[in-house]
Amino acid sequence: MNLKFKNFQNTLLKNSETVDNFIKKKLPKSQGLNKKLLEAIKYAILGSGKKIRSFLITETGKVVSGINNITFDNKKYNELIVIASAIEAIHTYSLIHDDLPAMDNSDYRRGKKSTHKKFDEATAILAGDALQSWGFELISNRSNYVDQEKVPKLIFELSKAIGFCGMVGGQQGDIDFTHNDLSEDNILWIQQKKTGSLLECCVTLSSIICNAKDDQIKKLQNFSRNLGLAFQIKDDLLDLHSNPKTLGKPVHQDQSNETPNFVNYYGEQKSIKKMNNSLEKSIESLNIFGNHAKNLVLLADYIVNRSH
Ligand code: IPE
Ligand code: IPE
Ligand code: MG
Ligand code: MG
Ligand code: MG
Repeated sequence: MNLKFKNFQNTLLKNSETVDNFIKKKLPKSQGLNKKLLEAIKYAILGSGKKIRSFLITETGKVVSGINNITFDNKKYNELIVIASAIEAIHTYSLIHDDLPAMDNSDYRRGKKSTHKKFDEATAILAGDALQSWGFELISNRSNYVDQEKVPKLIFELSKAIGFCGMVGGQQGDIDFTHNDLSEDNILWIQQKKTGSLLECCVTLSSIICNAKDDQIKKLQNFSRNLGLAFQIKDDLLDLHSNPKTLGKPVHQDQSNETPNFVNYYGEQKSIKKMNNSLEKSIESLNIFGNHAKNLVLLADYIVNRSH
């Protein structure tokens, strides 16, 4: 493993600890008859997960502030940590539900039993539901922001990204079809919705907080769209070749489920090409930011070279 890659992993870890600490602090303390729900939520969200979406959020804020010569102070950073925590809550909800027997039927997640295995299916469904609403609670709390007028915009963008025209819509396509039923464009649609929408939402929300200009938002969205595709193809390649211990989740599921992804559709070699092509396009979109975007380039590089 080269030094740059190792250093980046450490940076990612530090960012992840900050987000985890914030989540720990903000989760309700009191436990009543809903005690099990809170335990399941903590089990699912804390102490694991790469938190690449969080990194994308804080780093986009730094890039936008840097290029526009605006100070990236603690207030800005804290606002972005709120957004990152909300996004991680929503991402974790999507994983808890994705693992359920009615969906991918995965017994392991993030190196331990998945939530429905550790607790039970009802608790896993409810923990996912509660994480989704908690994400909105965090993001819509006006006291978390300096400029409160941004709040409706943040909520609107998030709602759009994860609903039936976004993440959940993509998950429905993923469940309903196999790679044999679909065209290349259909497969692309599913990948962009189920995974790409939330990643794109990360840069959109961060751009709103840090007052990015329209042309900058366009470039960042283009970056995240291509990054999202490269990210999902890498996830699908890892399903093909990794092992549960390294990956922290089951492998060889996509082939037996006939998942409508590019690895099943094109085969491995063509998928690697497509992943690298998406990586190149994503990095190209960052050109206008010059050296300010060096950590986003490292993130893109990490995404296609990661082992889990
Ligand atoms: C897994 O996402 C789900 C996909 C969209 C492929 P991550 O690989 O980011 O999962 P964690 O958060 O690190 O566990
Ligand atoms: C999951 O995709 C995407 C969402 C949860 C929205 P996958 O089913 O490929 O994710 P893993 O491989 O289980 O993490
Ligand atoms: Mg799935
Ligand atoms: Mg899955
Ligand atoms: Mg997968």
